[in-house]
Amino acid sequence: MPNHQLFDNHGRQVNYVRLAVTDRCNLRCFYCMPEEGIKYVPKEDLLTYEEMLRLMHLLVGMGIEKLRITGGEPFVRRDMMDFLRALCRMEGLKKVNITTNGTLTAPLIPELKQLGIHSINLSLDTLDKARFHQITRRDSFDTVMETFHALLEHEIPTKINAVVMEGKNTEDILPMVELTKQHPVNVRFIEEMPFNGEGSNSPTLTWHYRKILSHIQSRYPDIEKIPDPPHSTSYNYRIPGHQGTVGIIAAYSRTFCGTCNRIRITPKGMLKTCLYDDGVFNIRDLMRAGATDEQVRETFLQALGNRAKDGWEAEKNRKFGLPIQESMSTIGG
Ligand code: GTP
Ligand code: 5AD
Ligand code: SF4
Repeated sequence: MPNHQLFDNHGRQVNYVRLAVTDRCNLRCFYCMPEEGIKYVPKEDLLTYEEMLRLMHLLVGMGIEKLRITGGEPFVRRDMMDFLRALCRMEGLKKVNITTNGTLTAPLIPELKQLGIHSINLSLDTLDKARFHQITRRDSFDTVMETFHALLEHEIPTKINAVVMEGKNTEDILPMVELTKQHPVNVRFIEEMPFNGEGSNSPTLTWHYRKILSHIQSRYPDIEKIPDPPHSTSYNYRIPGHQGTVGIIAAYSRTFCGTCNRIRITPKGMLKTCLYDDGVFNIRDLMRAGATDEQVRETFLQALGNRAKDGWEAEKNRKFGLPIQESMSTIGG
């Protein structure tokens, strides 16, 4: 039996897949997509659940242990729970995680717990209802908070993802840190990346990770560094006496590429070996053309054998150039 373990040309093992199951979303976060004029992927162009299960089965055989379901918003896709049930039964797949905006999630949490979903990352950029509306262009703050409390109640490990944006939510940084006092949650602040679907983001990053940290340190001088889990995207910290932890994700500065263990599959079946590349090959087309399992495996191995060393190189090698035109909802974060 040939060795099919997924290693890249830089010696990094890939054991984490991020699968974006839809590009649709019921929010309109301005850092992710424009308010209007979005062209959603036609249904027939999406990977079907059967195709995704086949793919995951093959990838688990190649050493993938962790899956993160992303979107768009995963729960706007019909029959999502049936898909999760099938994934949670898949032998060899150790962790199924979800990144969600929390608008449709609260009633599903008892079943997600029962299924053994390993952890949930909740996108929430502010604790202020009016600012939530401004950022997401929708009025769903209370529903998202219901999800947050249901996650805590059911003891599903939870991370909050907050994109830090000059002029939009920097006054939320300290209140969100304060959330870790009473709740065992990991609140993570993320550098804003240029994936808003309009290609117009300024490349100057005001709130880079060091600035976020020093802002937090000014209020919490005794904040201390804690060890980061292997392959972590975040630098992690704790404040003495707090139940939860704080993380900072240098997503734009790309400080963690050296230990990158992940690949991405877009809703249309495009493989991305880096968040910043513009797609390497289309797995859906390959499967629909009748490729055997062995051919699919070979294509993955070839793609990984030609991977950029970091997000800067991947960005430089983009076939369709710059500025980046994609919306994060078509990538899954
Ligand atoms: P864990 O599995 O809990 O560690 O989560 P994660 O950080 O891998 O995933 P999540 O979906 O919560 O993403 C949080 C933020 O990190 C988002 O803004 C992602 O776009 C960003 N992110 C995740 N993976 C990468 C990556 O490989 N490169 C970069 N630059 N950013 C990433
Ligand atoms: N910059 C940084 N993070 C982003 N996300 C979405 N768009 C951006 C962006 N432009 C984050 C969301 C979500 C995660 C998957 O990606 O907050 O939690
Ligand atoms: Fe929807 Fe997530 Fe994009 Fe916000 S960041 S519009 S929640 S896909």
